[in-house]
Amino acid sequence: ALLVPSVQELAKSSNLALPSRYIRPHDQPLISDDHNALNFPHLQIPVIDFQKLVSEESNSELEKFHFACKEWGFFQLVNHGVRSSLLEKTKTESENMFKLPLEEKNKYKQAPGDLDGFGQNFVFSEEQKLDWCDVFALTTLPIHMRKPRIFTKLPSAFREAIENYSMEEEELAKSLMTQMEKALKLKDKEVTKLFEGGTQATRLNYYPPCPQPEKVIGLASHSDSSGLTIVLQVGDVEGLQVKNNGKWVTVKPLPNAFIVNIGDILEMVTNGEYRSIEHRATINSQRERLSIATFCNPNFGVEIGPAHTLITDQSPAKYRRLGTQEYYRGFFSRQLESKSYIESMK
Ligand code: SIN
Ligand code: FE2
Repeated sequence: ALLVPSVQELAKSSNLALPSRYIRPHDQPLISDDHNALNFPHLQIPVIDFQKLVSEESNSELEKFHFACKEWGFFQLVNHGVRSSLLEKTKTESENMFKLPLEEKNKYKQAPGDLDGFGQNFVFSEEQKLDWCDVFALTTLPIHMRKPRIFTKLPSAFREAIENYSMEEEELAKSLMTQMEKALKLKDKEVTKLFEGGTQATRLNYYPPCPQPEKVIGLASHSDSSGLTIVLQVGDVEGLQVKNNGKWVTVKPLPNAFIVNIGDILEMVTNGEYRSIEHRATINSQRERLSIATFCNPNFGVEIGPAHTLITDQSPAKYRRLGTQEYYRGFFSRQLESKSYIESMK
């Protein structure tokens, strides 16, 4: 990773002249604070009730969930059972991380070739356009992969919150994958066994306000390379947009709901039944935005490819099988264009 300045520091300067590296080409669709005037106010990602989903009583929530994974690749999850006291603590302590003075943050700076720590997402060239976003990234699971360079220095309140949060998210991801197996009528735990003991990364995304929000992007359009991503948004500022039938739909975050999306690996494992959808984050002119993303990835060393149950004469395998190491090596050498990356697996 090349080191670039903190956007948070940049955004603090009064009379900010936007550095050209942050200014996006004009062919980008218009973005403004008034997202939904430009977009589609009535269109929203589906809302799934977790307690209904896991209760055996009716299949209707499972059908809704299946539809959300197939048609949207995104949904909001309510009634998920994660204690709100833990969510509040995780949100407050995450905000506190970005309130640390720069000298403190520099103690956790991303090291070359390592995404963990304070820094930016995938900066790989001097010419590359930059996102209006700072991140604090952590490998959270398995426990032995936590970077001591970072973990041992964390403020204890944040560390305690994130350790508990990480466990809850792991459990939740497992339950959601079990429901996917049920909805897809898979045999032999074809999804969950890939993720058993898998890696989990947690990334705090901090988007400072920008006086010219239409000129920058918080996070450029991408699809996630993960299996499953679970996002907790801090506060009610809108910013996440999801592509649906060629249009950008702005997510209206429900308080303490999780925003869940299918990543490229689950698209491959489900042989394209479930879709890893492009999304992006826009910027507000007045208010900062913070989100906490948990990326659930397969166990290192397993092979990823379409589940055998889903391959039939009528629906042949759409993706080739490959090891996770090969997958990630390829992903990082192609940087952010993960949608074109997964296309290359066909
Ligand atoms: C992302 O991780 O792709 C964006 C999450 C968000 O800020 O809502
Ligand atoms: Fe993402």
